[in-house]
Amino acid sequence: MQGVARNFFTLAIIYALCGMALGLSMAISQDHGQMPTHAHTMVAGWLMSAVFAFFYHLFPAVAQKTLATIHFWLTAVSGIGLVIGLYFLLAGNAAIEPMVAASSMGFYAAMLLFAFIALPAVWKKA
Ligand code: HEM
Ligand code: HEM
Repeated sequence: MQGVARNFFTLAIIYALCGMALGLSMAISQDHGQMPTHAHTMVAGWLMSAVFAFFYHLFPAVAQKTLATIHFWLTAVSGIGLVIGLYFLLAGNAAIEPMVAASSMGFYAAMLLFAFIALPAVWKKA
């Protein structure tokens, strides 16, 4: 694995370690108030980043494109902004909501970009 694929896989592992630590802290404290943060870190973070990593690993020519690098950074910055913002929002800091909203839209934009990158690659005639 290399390039964008390796970056996504590394990001996925970081999300898994942080999200599971949060899950453990929720279970130990019996305070599940951060469940949406844990759920998004695990599913939108760990699982989605791992899917992107394996996609770029399977399509190395696509991974070489500048658009793939843009996809990585947009996903990483908006996704990390989303889960960190959500953490503070659920901890009672209502003022951070605009950051969570902007990050959510960035994350959606990154998914749209991925559709634009990935669909032509998987539909291409051999
Ligand atoms: C160290 C391992 C983990 C611990 C201790 C843990 C702990 C928790 C806890 C305490 C909740 C809240 C349950 C509730 O209030 O109903 C939860 C929910 C959740 N966890 Fe984990 N979790 C772990 C690993 C994972 C993994 C590996 C994933 C996914 C890849 C995951 C995905 C979710 C999701 C999606 C929810 C929300 C479920 C719902 O909407 O009802 N968790 N977890
Ligand atoms: C544009 C970004 C996203 C936004 C704004 C968003 C928003 C939300 C909202 C408002 C909820 C309900 C939370 C609650 O009732 O407490 C939710 C739940 C959930 N979302 Fe998302 N979501 C986004 C992306 C995703 C993605 C990409 C995934 C998975 C790949 C995902 C997985 C889940 C799961 C598993 C739950 C149920 C867990 C829970 O209730 O905390 N979300 N999301």
